[in-house]
Amino acid sequence: MRVIIQRDYELVSKWAAHYVAQRIAGHPANVPFVMGLPTGSTPLGMYQELIRLNSEGAVSFRNVVTFNMDEYVGIPADDARSYHRFMWDNLFSHIDIKKENVHILDGMAHDLEGECARYEASIRAAGGIDLFVGGVGSDGHIAFNEPGSSLSSRTRIKTLTRDTKKANARFFDGDPDKVPSHALTVGVATITDAREVLILVSGIEKARALAHAVEMGVNHIWTVSCLQLHPKAILVCDEDSTEELRVGTVRYFKEIEADNLENWKSRL
Ligand code: GLP
Repeated sequence: MRVIIQRDYELVSKWAAHYVAQRIAGHPANVPFVMGLPTGSTPLGMYQELIRLNSEGAVSFRNVVTFNMDEYVGIPADDARSYHRFMWDNLFSHIDIKKENVHILDGMAHDLEGECARYEASIRAAGGIDLFVGGVGSDGHIAFNEPGSSLSSRTRIKTLTRDTKKANARFFDGDPDKVPSHALTVGVATITDAREVLILVSGIEKARALAHAVEMGVNHIWTVSCLQLHPKAILVCDEDSTEELRVGTVRYFKEIEADNLENWKSRL
C-alpha cells in the first residue's frame, strides 16, 4: 500500500487528478481504460482538476469507460439528488467522454437484483476495472459497503446506516429521514478486483477511518481496511486526516514518498 500525504485538500485533489491523467495517457490507445468512480464531496476537487486538464488537452476521456460505485434506490436519474445527476453535473458534461461509455447503477430498476447482476456482467465484459477511485465514509465504508459488509461482496442492494444518512442529509434538506434507506452499490470485492485502487481521504472526520485502513487489521467493520490485501492500493490523504496515525507511521510514509512528491511538485 502506498500512502501519499499531502498538505491539504487542494493538493490531494491535484495529485489524484494528475495520477488519473497519467494512467489514462499511458494506456494503449486501442484498449479502453476502465475506471471506477465515486460521488461525495471529496472527489469534487479532483474532478475540477480533471476538467481543467481535459480542456487544456492534457488528457482525453474518449477512450475511457466508467462505472460508478453506487446509486440511491428510488431516486430517478434526472433528480438533482441522484448520483447520475451528480456525475453529469460535476464531471461528465464537462469532458469529452462518450455517453455510451458511462455506466451508473439504475436505482429505479424494477428488478434491483437483476440490475446488480447485470452491472457485474458489464464490468466483466469491459475487461475489468483498471483503476477504481473512491472516497471513504467516516466509519470507514467504501462505496456504500457499510460496516459489516462482506469483504467478498459483489454489487447488491444495501441498507444505509443512520450515520451515513446523517452524513448525506446535506443533500436532502438537512433531514436524515429524507435520505433513501437503500442504495445499490458495488461490493468490496468488486472494488478490490480492480487492477489498481486509489482512495482519497480528506479532513479530520476521516482520521479514524484512515488509521483503520493503514495501521489496524483487515476487518469487515472498517471496509476500507480491505486495501491491505490489494497488490496496488494507494491512499492519498491530507495532513488533517492523518491525525489518528502514529507519528512514526506519518514520518515513514513521508520519507519513502519524498522523492516522488518532489518530482511531482516540480512538474505542476
Ligand atoms: C457516501 C458515498 C461514498 C463516499 C462517502 C463519503 O457514502 N457512497 O462513496 O466515499 O459518502 O463522502 P464524502 O466524500 O462526501 O465525505
